[in-house]
Amino acid sequence: MYDGLPTPGRNDECWCGSGKKYKKCHLDFDERLEALYEAGEEVPPRDLLKTAADIEGIKRSAEVNAGVLDYVAERIAPGTTTEQIDQWVHDYTVEHGAIPAPLNYEGFPKSVCTSINEVVCHGIPDADETLAAGDIVNVDCSTIKDGYFSDSSRMFCIGEVSPEAADLVRVTKEAVEVGLAAVKPWGHLGDIGAAVNAYAQEHGYTVVREFGGHGIGLEFHEDPFVSFVSEPGTGCVLVPGLCFTIEPMINAGAQEIDMSDPNGWTVRTADRSLTAQWEVQLVITEDGYELLSW
Ligand code: MF3
Ligand code: CO
Repeated sequence: MYDGLPTPGRNDECWCGSGKKYKKCHLDFDERLEALYEAGEEVPPRDLLKTAADIEGIKRSAEVNAGVLDYVAERIAPGTTTEQIDQWVHDYTVEHGAIPAPLNYEGFPKSVCTSINEVVCHGIPDADETLAAGDIVNVDCSTIKDGYFSDSSRMFCIGEVSPEAADLVRVTKEAVEVGLAAVKPWGHLGDIGAAVNAYAQEHGYTVVREFGGHGIGLEFHEDPFVSFVSEPGTGCVLVPGLCFTIEPMINAGAQEIDMSDPNGWTVRTADRSLTAQWEVQLVITEDGYELLSW
């Protein structure tokens, strides 16, 4: 087939692990994928599509991941250091039989990313960094459990924040919801980013181009790359079983970013304007999508 992967015989067991014969299971589905490919569509290779067993595993991972963020939400306050957040995330994750995915990922030194105010993403927790009233912070958690990956992030407003900061945080969360509303099985990935970008622009904000969402499940970052400045009707077909994140980074000022921090990780807005991000993880189903982590 189009993806170069082997296809079972009609009476052999289906590739999806259902135990059913291929002809009674994914044969028609595979023919649909092949036809879309022949018609010039970008069709994900079938090894990106999650089986029912994969999805069960990812859900168990995501339960810990969302639990970590709930745990942080109950504790974060003015005076919290980002090092403390790292400790909470690490200890909660390990106590739940899981591993924080960021730790040692491509040399990342901590268990979570904490990105304050003008930090777009990949902020490194630090004992000398204390949250103060008025700060907005993204806490980005990723978990490995039994080999399955989950990933989501939330914004936290510390104490009373400015109306500008509160608006950016709210609009960014709504942008994720608008992106989710654009998800249609057998539709296109580009529909999501187009909806997110239009929503951000309506509110006078800009969307970061260099970072996006990603496939996830058996690895931390799988294909496809999920842009949030995409065109409708373009990109990968949203085939049931595709599992990925929606995680736009939205700036109050210009869209340009500054990646020159000597630590090699921390990304800031070029103009030092405020920036926000929310991240959810979903899987495409036959009739819509299922949220796995948030
Ligand atoms: N959690 C980030 C994402 O949403 C990835 C962080 S990579 C790290 O994809 F190494 F910085 F943790
Ligand atoms: Co992610």
